Amino acid sequence: MATATLKSSDMEISSFVEDLTRVQKALADSLRLQILRLLKNESFGVLELCRILDIRQSALSHHLKVLSTARLVSTRREGNSIFYRRAFLADEDKFRDIKRSTFDVIDNFPVPDKQAQKIKQIQLERAELSLSFFNRNSDKFKEQQGLIVEHGDYSASVHDIIDNLGMSSNASVLEVGPGEGEFLVELAEKFKTLYALDNSKDMLEKSHDAAHAAQHSHVSFVLGDTGVARNKNISADLIIFNMVLHHISSPAKTFKDSSQLLNESGYLLIIDLGSHDQDWVRESCGDLWLGFDNEDLDYWANKAGLTTEQSSYLGLRNGFQIQMRVFKKPAR
Ligand SMILES: C[S@@+](CC[C@H](N)C(=O)[O-])C[C@H]1O[C@@H](n2cnc3c(N)ncnc32)[C@H](O)[C@@H]1O
Repeated sequence: MATATLKSSDMEISSFVEDLTRVQKALADSLRLQILRLLKNESFGVLELCRILDIRQSALSHHLKVLSTARLVSTRREGNSIFYRRAFLADEDKFRDIKRSTFDVIDNFPVPDKQAQKIKQIQLERAELSLSFFNRNSDKFKEQQGLIVEHGDYSASVHDIIDNLGMSSNASVLEVGPGEGEFLVELAEKFKTLYALDNSKDMLEKSHDAAHAAQHSHVSFVLGDTGVARNKNISADLIIFNMVLHHISSPAKTFKDSSQLLNESGYLLIIDLGSHDQDWVRESCGDLWLGFDNEDLDYWANKAGLTTEQSSYLGLRNGFQIQMRVFKKPAR
């Protein structure tokens, strides 16, 4: 009996040491540390990382495998590509402290200029892809979007969530990406200060027409993205992204901007698709992201200083899942 205990504890120790060695080895490489640094707030596909780091895919794949085996990065499939991001450090991860402290050290270093420029270029290309879709398809947008979900399928649940936030009609509300303005009109019935922010001129005009037809003259229309809204010093008690985040090239930056735009104790409401593998939505609906894992949204929100509040999930008959997530900017 004693021998059996000894053996099993010997095995435990040796597997612990092996795992520890794997983590330490994974961290003992300058390129892998650079990769982890790049993935601080972002996720990138393999080809994007090759561009940023200026290395061949075969070389990069080896390093990504080492990082992934040591549970330093995690992956998600986006159609035919695999995207990498830093792994969430779970409480039960035996090497959490080592990983955490390494992340803290590398995060103190800025990304080299050359790499930062390439990241900017990649984000620009992703954003242009999305913008050009809406500029080309503004006329048939509704029918394309309807392939995934109709506003009526989940609008009652969204209104329940908003009503439960207990906001006064005097609260200032910003809807990012109102599209054809269906939801904007409903918000205009609830709130006296309402901004509509869309980076597509055609779509902004459509939401303008919808508000005008419903005789809501108190909506302010702004052409641009959350960066533009920040430059215009807009502030809001509630920011809503309704089926918009999956069109945005850098969700991490969007969460940061939103956090800046929010007043203290303000809310960010994200309504978006859960992670899925329906690749056709890229072509047909201009989606850049195939939905999101809820951990992804928590991660970006928490990095932006927002706390995770209530969540609601809705399964659709066509297999898509909608997540309605509330985040809050804490009072100082
Ligand atoms: C799929 S539509 C959603 C429209 C509407 N919220 C709905 O659910 O019907 C996405 C909208 O977001 C806009 N959009 C995409 N990226 C944006 C960005 N970075 N900033 C502001 N608007 C954006 C598009 O122009 C489009 O109007």
